[in-house]
Amino acid sequence: MRKFGPDPNKAFPNENIKSLCYIRNIITRSNIVVGEYTYYDDPDGAENFEKHVTHHYDFNGDKLIIGKFCAIARGIEFIMNGANHRMCSVTTYPFNIMGGGWEKCTPKPEDLPLKGDTIVGNDVWIGQNVTVLPGVHIGDGAIIGANSVVTKDVPPYAIVGGNPAKLLRKRFDDETIDFLLKLKWWDWSAEKIFANLETLCSGDLTKIKHPKSRCRKTGPCKKRILG
Ligand SMILES: CC(C)(COP(=O)(O)OP(=O)(O)OC[C@H]1O[C@@H](n2cnc3c(N)ncnc32)[C@H](O)[C@@H]1OP(=O)(O)O)[C@@H](O)C(=O)NCCC(=O)NCCS
Repeated sequence: MRKFGPDPNKAFPNENIKSLCYIRNIITRSNIVVGEYTYYDDPDGAENFEKHVTHHYDFNGDKLIIGKFCAIARGIEFIMNGANHRMCSVTTYPFNIMGGGWEKCTPKPEDLPLKGDTIVGNDVWIGQNVTVLPGVHIGDGAIIGANSVVTKDVPPYAIVGGNPAKLLRKRFDDETIDFLLKLKWWDWSAEKIFANLETLCSGDLTKIKHPKSRCRKTGPCKKRILG
């Protein structure tokens, strides 16, 4: 059988880089969903990715959903909805979790500021020590700068940074962004990605308009122009 890249079903795709883990293959919680090839890189144990998804309680029902081919650097912190205390009351102190009778004031779900699922698209690069707050949606192809705190949605192919993270610039012009969002190269087969790897890694963005449909065993790869 021909190989078209690393095995997406392995936790550690490259045995020489122990800090790099395909997190889909180590997830134990049903409320975290991760696409193929998305990795977490952490010399202190990338297999501990789930420890970086905090305050994630089943009773809130919120999910962390991450697409394919994302690169997540060490120090990520996905803060989920369970982190937010009731704010509409005199005090934000969570008496109920201390017990001793204080549980009589357990907040109702509607008293808590629930902001929904946290969603990271495909081909997103998240720099070192980034914090993502509950309910944030990060678009395909976005870049999150080092040490950012992401408080609001990030548009596709945007570069954001800072605390709170603000738009630094768009990666490409709108026409190219629309094209890439329709192309969805991350959904291609491993073979088609392999055939187009040089194009995907090229700074010449005209090439991606003419991807090869697949890598043939004999003869050159066929080209197909996307409309
Ligand atoms: C976001 C990033 C990709 C931008 O790179 P770049 O395009 O070369 O950026 P520049 O250095 O040209 O900076 C452009 C502007 O963005 C600002 N900026 C850059 N990175 C920033 C960050 N992390 N937070 C806030 N602002 C940032 C710069 O101050 C500059 O602002 P100005 O235009 O007002 O002067 C890069 O700075 C970064 O944070 N990379 C992450 C690296 C990392 O953590 N890797 C982990 C291992 S994979």
